[in-house]
Amino acid sequence: MNYNLNDISEKQEKVSSLKALRKLLQLITEERRNLLLAVIAILVNSGINLSGPFIVGHVIDTYVVHKDFHGVLVWAGILLAMYLVGFVASYMQSRMMGGVGQRMLFKLRNTIFNKLQELPVAFFNQNKAGDLISRVNNDTDKINQFFSQSLMQFIGTIVTMTGAGIFLLAINPELGVATLLPGLVIFIITKLVSPWIKKRNAESMQRTGGLSAEIQEGLQNFKVIIAFNRRDYFRDRFEEANKSNYTSAVAAGIANNIFIPVYGFFAAAAQLLVLTFGIYLISTGHFSIGLLVSYLAYAVNFYNPLRQLAALWANFQVAMAGWDRISYILSMENNLPVLPATIVEKSNVANMEFNDVSFGYDDGKEILHHVSFALEPGKTYALVGPTGGGKTTTASLIARLYDPTKGTVLLDHKDIRSYQPEERTKKIGFILQDPFLFSGTVRENILYGNEQYVGYSNEQLETTIKDAGLESILSIFEKGLDTELSSGGDSISLGQKQLIAFMRAVLRNPALLILDEATANIDTITEQILQDILNKLPETTTRVIIAHRLNTIQNADEIFFVNAGEVIRAGSFEDAVKMLLQGERHS
Ligand SMILES: Nc1ncnc2c1ncn2[C@@H]1O[C@H](COP(=O)(O)OP(=O)(O)O)[C@@H](O)[C@H]1O
Ligand SMILES: [Mg+2]
Repeated sequence: MNYNLNDISEKQEKVSSLKALRKLLQLITEERRNLLLAVIAILVNSGINLSGPFIVGHVIDTYVVHKDFHGVLVWAGILLAMYLVGFVASYMQSRMMGGVGQRMLFKLRNTIFNKLQELPVAFFNQNKAGDLISRVNNDTDKINQFFSQSLMQFIGTIVTMTGAGIFLLAINPELGVATLLPGLVIFIITKLVSPWIKKRNAESMQRTGGLSAEIQEGLQNFKVIIAFNRRDYFRDRFEEANKSNYTSAVAAGIANNIFIPVYGFFAAAAQLLVLTFGIYLISTGHFSIGLLVSYLAYAVNFYNPLRQLAALWANFQVAMAGWDRISYILSMENNLPVLPATIVEKSNVANMEFNDVSFGYDDGKEILHHVSFALEPGKTYALVGPTGGGKTTTASLIARLYDPTKGTVLLDHKDIRSYQPEERTKKIGFILQDPFLFSGTVRENILYGNEQYVGYSNEQLETTIKDAGLESILSIFEKGLDTELSSGGDSISLGQKQLIAFMRAVLRNPALLILDEATANIDTITEQILQDILNKLPETTTRVIIAHRLNTIQNADEIFFVNAGEVIRAGSFEDAVKMLLQGERHS
């Protein structure tokens, strides 16, 4: 399954901007009232702007020509009042749309983040966190900018231009057609050039995503970078990403501004046309000076917004490019769908079965070939095998972090895909090879995913921990439950992290518990404590232990040897050791 967003953006069929806009507007249906009010305000404003020139023309022809200055003053007063109303309407509209833009931004970010939370592990394997952050932060803001600053101006200019166009045609059809002709040329140019502009902007955003990914990688791995003295190397890499971001941003900027001189030129040409043709008409007695003044004003009213429209249209292309990048995420299927299923009675045991399971990560190489085995409740299983043999992969399939490419994984004789995520995660506990802890206290990290204890006081929680036999682990932490972990648990050792992850998983009391090398960084004495705790788990708990130390494996009821796509049952401990040694000799 391909989840790579940058791949998808190349393959995705191009949808028209307006269709995309409509989809985007569906996100803010509850803003309909505000949008409507803003549109009304815009219409009022445009109406006033449009009637201005007509009134001026009328005043010239009726009062100025007859030197009736009283009438001129009265109309000037009326015009002033109208422009004031226009000012208020325009102010209201900007205020309203600012709010709409921000709410839209808020909602968009929420929607994307929630979507990200639903996507399968494979998605995160294939996309860089930095690029995703850039999509959530940067690209959504481009859309907000369009909505809060440009959309209404956009509607306003279109209304004004349409009105001006109608006036131009109504006053004198011939002159009107001549005046509007340059507009038609601009329209065609715009239509042709827009996809190119959008592409330039999409590229620029992609580079920004790349830059963000570079920053993220550098910051996350700073220890490795410093330890290997690769600061220069990373500096170069960053500079390269920064440069590429910069050049593509400049290219997008040029593309975004390309319309402005083009529109300016055609606007000037149109005015020249009106003036020449108009004066000619006056000289032949077909036109009055007042009409020519109105006419010029309407031509300005048509072409000035057009200049604005050039900038707005570019903003629109930017927003649409951002929306494309976001909509790829939103259109992703949460693969790992839940199949419809018959309800099974709730049980505290877990039967696990692999039925002819094959699996490969996205790059197509098959990691497991036709694997079948069954795990019974209450037994302890050990998975052994060389590094890279497929142990973690097998465990990930048991916990349904991925779906098999072929075959089925059965939980309690039912396809694991038919379980709701809550049900499944309640049954299966997974202590990952590289546990992740959140910034916060030990308590918060233990409660993560343990909803039943959320309301517990520290004392209650400590009792629970004692009952589970975990208190000797907790005592390792100086301040117990209140020990603070900074920046994702960097303030404690890897072994300590594994202990917290161990407590977190055991307290959930899962029917099946997987430990993926969970004791690899723990001393033998503490490991013995963990062993005792595991022995004290309810009798029906299935334990799957991935480990290297032979004594850990020794206690297992059954041992599976995982290597080269196969999961083979070793007859006895001695067999398993033999297989391991053989594997080592071969490699
Ligand atoms: N996220 C991944 N994407 C692609 N290949 C992976 C991924 N994780 C593991 N692999 C590959 O799968 C194989 C098995 O890995 P893994 O199950 O982690 O081995 P083990 O846990 O036994 O050391 C390895 O060859 C590894 O390269
Ligand atoms: Mg592993």
